[in-house]
Amino acid sequence: MHIGILGTGIVGQTLGLRLVQLGHPVMLGTRDPAQLDEPKGRGPDARTLRTWLALAGSAASVGTFREAAASGELVITALSGVVSLEVLQTVGEASLHGKTLLDTSNPIDVSRGFPLTLFVKDTDSLGEILQRAFPTVRLVKTLNTMTAALMVNPHLVGHGDHTVFVSGNDAQAKAQVAELLRELGWHDILDLGDIATARGTEMMLSIGHAVMRALSPAEIAFKVVR
Ligand SMILES: NC(=O)c1ccc[n+]([C@@H]2O[C@H](COP(=O)([O-])OP(=O)(O)OC[C@H]3O[C@@H](n4cnc5c(N)ncnc54)[C@H](OP(=O)(O)O)[C@@H]3O)[C@@H](O)[C@H]2O)c1
Repeated sequence: MHIGILGTGIVGQTLGLRLVQLGHPVMLGTRDPAQLDEPKGRGPDARTLRTWLALAGSAASVGTFREAAASGELVITALSGVVSLEVLQTVGEASLHGKTLLDTSNPIDVSRGFPLTLFVKDTDSLGEILQRAFPTVRLVKTLNTMTAALMVNPHLVGHGDHTVFVSGNDAQAKAQVAELLRELGWHDILDLGDIATARGTEMMLSIGHAVMRALSPAEIAFKVVR
């Protein structure tokens, strides 16, 4: 399945690389696809798109946000939360119409430091904002409660015995995303219900970051014990 990923940070690059390895052609979307030698991401994980392309091989490509969205049978957003809506508006409805949009983004107010502040919470969520703006898109919020490394390798902690949450209004889109999550190695896939349940998973960022910082720093995962 062709997958378009909007976002070139650690999440976009990590998911893209793994999905190519799993046999899915991937196009990463960025503001300026000619900027192949500018490091993307933060800290020691920062990598240029030229390096990413070399690692990912011939099934991988880089394009504009719109080209990446148009190329994908399924589209993933891995964008800074503050610009998610703006970028999707630039992409336009036509490239996204009827598609499943797997949204990993969190509404972090990047103008503030720690403890993290969310620019929407509690009474609304970034997932709902995007779904309202694009009613024909089948948005599924998932993978936003963990680091990029864990997204593609749940076995990094606890032998992979922990939970990934799924929120969205469309049952078929959630089933398609669950299939992709299983390909990535996930077993405990918990469908929380409609997109309003993304309020909960987006707010988990606050406790997730606090725990990671307290354990300075460590990969951690959430597990729902029934
Ligand atoms: N980092 C993690 O481990 C992690 C874990 C869970 C969820 N998340 C969420 O996943 C999302 C992606 O995180 P990330 O750390 O990979 O990347 P990020 O640094 O949050 O975002 C990178 C992407 O945002 C785009 N961008 C930034 N400013 C922009 C602007 N003014 N206009 C248009 N595009 C802009 C960049 O475009 P260019 O390509 O043009 O540079 C890039 O593609 C975030 O919402 C984050 O909260 C992250």
